[in-house]
Amino acid sequence: MSSEPDSALTVMLAMNDASRARVLVPRVMARLEATATVLPVGPGTTFLDDREVLAALPDVDVLLTGWGCPRISPEVLEAAPKLQAILHAAGSVKAIVAPEAFDRGVQVSSAAHANALPVAEFTVAAVVLAGKRAFRLAAQYRIDRRKTDPHGMPGSYGTTVGLLGASRIGRMVAERLRTFDLHVLISDPYLTQSEAADLGAELVGNDELFGRSDILSVHAPLLPETTGLVDARLLGLLRDGSVLINTARGKIIDAAALERECVSGRIDAVLDVTDPEPLPPDSPLLDLPNVFVTPHVAGAVGNEIARLGELAVSELERLTTGQPLQHAISPADLGRLA
Ligand SMILES: NC(=O)c1ccc[n+]([C@@H]2O[C@H](COP(=O)([O-])OP(=O)(O)OC[C@H]3O[C@@H](n4cnc5c(N)ncnc54)[C@H](O)[C@@H]3O)[C@@H](O)[C@H]2O)c1
Repeated sequence: MSSEPDSALTVMLAMNDASRARVLVPRVMARLEATATVLPVGPGTTFLDDREVLAALPDVDVLLTGWGCPRISPEVLEAAPKLQAILHAAGSVKAIVAPEAFDRGVQVSSAAHANALPVAEFTVAAVVLAGKRAFRLAAQYRIDRRKTDPHGMPGSYGTTVGLLGASRIGRMVAERLRTFDLHVLISDPYLTQSEAADLGAELVGNDELFGRSDILSVHAPLLPETTGLVDARLLGLLRDGSVLINTARGKIIDAAALERECVSGRIDAVLDVTDPEPLPPDSPLLDLPNVFVTPHVAGAVGNEIARLGELAVSELERLTTGQPLQHAISPADLGRLA
């Protein structure tokens, strides 16, 4: 993996082989090599365990990171004095970027936006299908066609959809739901009323969100203050027959309380993420007709992953032409981001 050294910036790739193949598909790699000098990194190298790679760090201007990248520690930063930017072709940068990077003036950007898009699409699809209780009906249909009564189910018209978190994904979902005949509520301690109105949503607190929603979708990041945030009390505020969608993180919801509510049949659930993940094979959630579980596929999968590479290479192109990064992460935001 190399290119002619005809560019001012030298880029080192720091991600595992599987990510490299999925993120830097040939068309993205061609754009990358047309923009910068890409250091030849051998197969299997995760950039820090290789002496050749360590020896090259002093020349590196940009680290293009991805899944499997080891933490960019103060020692790595020390060994890369020319480093201007860490462009992360994956979601959260928290696990890989040491705070010292910001202190040294290294710009950091994340492709979380590109990973957010498919989650928003997945959620909108889930909201539409949940409106008709299509997941529950499909399961009942498999068990006994005669007992399946679609007219006994609520429809989507005028349904109230609650979004927990005006995160990137929460906002994208709200923007997309504007075109439906739905009423959207949103809860987020960082959101103002006018920002909510701009999203076409009504700003409410968590109790009102859970008490008024027919369909409630979780989009908050997993932080100390959101771990177990959706507890037995909040779940208990959901109306009978409502649908809970979680594409965020399993640990935001109290797992035992969720299981109780689902096993009782009082609520339906669409769960792309769970706690634990994956679920144990004997989890009742896997067999309930009112629960639809997917194995963490709402984010980028298959050909969608190249979008993250495209975003990172676009950031590199902006860097080379002196434009500000479009998806820069500021250290001040880190505490509230996924
Ligand atoms: N299922 C998947 O494949 C998949 C893929 C990508 C992201 N995710 C998850 O989706 C969720 C949203 O991701 P994102 O990138 O949009 O997040 P994000 O980084 O944009 O979220 C940060 C925002 O969340 C909001 N927030 C912070 N604390 C909150 C709180 N206590 N209550 C409500 N809102 C709060 C704030 O608006 C903050 O700016 C995360 O949990 C993330 O891990 C899942």
